[in-house]
Amino acid sequence: SRLALAALGLAALTGCQESQQTLTIGDLASSYNREMWNLSLWAIAASIVIFVGVSAALFYTVFRFREDNNKEEPQQFHGNEKLEVFLVGIPVVIVMVLSILSVRTMANTNPVDKSSTDRVEALAMQFWWNFAYPNIKSPEGAAVTNGNEMVVPTGRPTTVVLNSRDVVHEFWAPNLGPQRQAIPGSEKIWNIDTDRPGVYQGNCNYLCGASHANMRFKVIALPDAEYKAFADAAANYAAPTPTPGSAEARGYELFMKGKPETGALACAACHRVQGTPAAGAAGPDLSFFGTRRTLGAGMWEGEKAQEMLIPWIKHSPQVKPGSIMPTYDGSTYLVNGKETKGGLLTDAEIGDVAAYLRT
Ligand code: CUA
Repeated sequence: SRLALAALGLAALTGCQESQQTLTIGDLASSYNREMWNLSLWAIAASIVIFVGVSAALFYTVFRFREDNNKEEPQQFHGNEKLEVFLVGIPVVIVMVLSILSVRTMANTNPVDKSSTDRVEALAMQFWWNFAYPNIKSPEGAAVTNGNEMVVPTGRPTTVVLNSRDVVHEFWAPNLGPQRQAIPGSEKIWNIDTDRPGVYQGNCNYLCGASHANMRFKVIALPDAEYKAFADAAANYAAPTPTPGSAEARGYELFMKGKPETGALACAACHRVQGTPAAGAAGPDLSFFGTRRTLGAGMWEGEKAQEMLIPWIKHSPQVKPGSIMPTYDGSTYLVNGKETKGGLLTDAEIGDVAAYLRT
């Protein structure tokens, strides 16, 4: 189980600082962006030729035919059939060439590599992402699942199957290629790939509600050997059973059962943890929570994410607009638009839940 944590935490496994990629569509480590770049080069080249040609003709005309009283009047004429055919013909040829190149680019970028067994089912919803790996199965036969962090191999395509659970969202990791809309009930299938290992930033790119801006994700691209280690470890992962009497053990109890006498709902009702009885599907899968780089679908990273865990458990809707997670400090939150009083856990109990989550 330790291996799973290590495999998911790229930095932990390689023992070096993990590389965070600059957010750009000019990242040529992905085949889609390379195709787009090559197409752009043709368009840029055509633009340069036209610009230089038109400028040269303009300057020639300005200087050659400038007013000069000592010279004879230049030749006067109306219409020139050859010149007109030439001037219409050039743009027609340019547009035709660019069209052919565009169609070729479309053909090169759109087909899905059906042979790819690396497959991720991405489900978008207000306001987070669920990533399931149908070909990486837990011992119980369920697909390994992770919230807001998607793990892919480098050097070969991964098939992404995208859907939405509620409204229209849009999956976009600019370094890894195109943006694709997540439309409820309509699957989008395409390939992403990159030659360069690292952590890539992704965002929802379609206005979808109060926390549209807080609907981010990461794509973690691992070298082949590390990806294999991740897949093996994730498939065999079972969350550790905490030592009886520890804070983690008290947190585990609260996580699984809640505290019915104060109205505190069990986390397990909405969240799954692989290898435990927790099998909820309403909220993000928390199996690999301890290795996550961010909290709240990318709202906070690193130390800030650690710091925000307690406020998050206490009253998630107060720190992330539109969150539908119940509160645990007795404050109200919305259920189907209706104000509902949250359950109550003591600060110590919330600390115990956080301690369990961090394992
Ligand atoms: Cu989801 Cu914007």
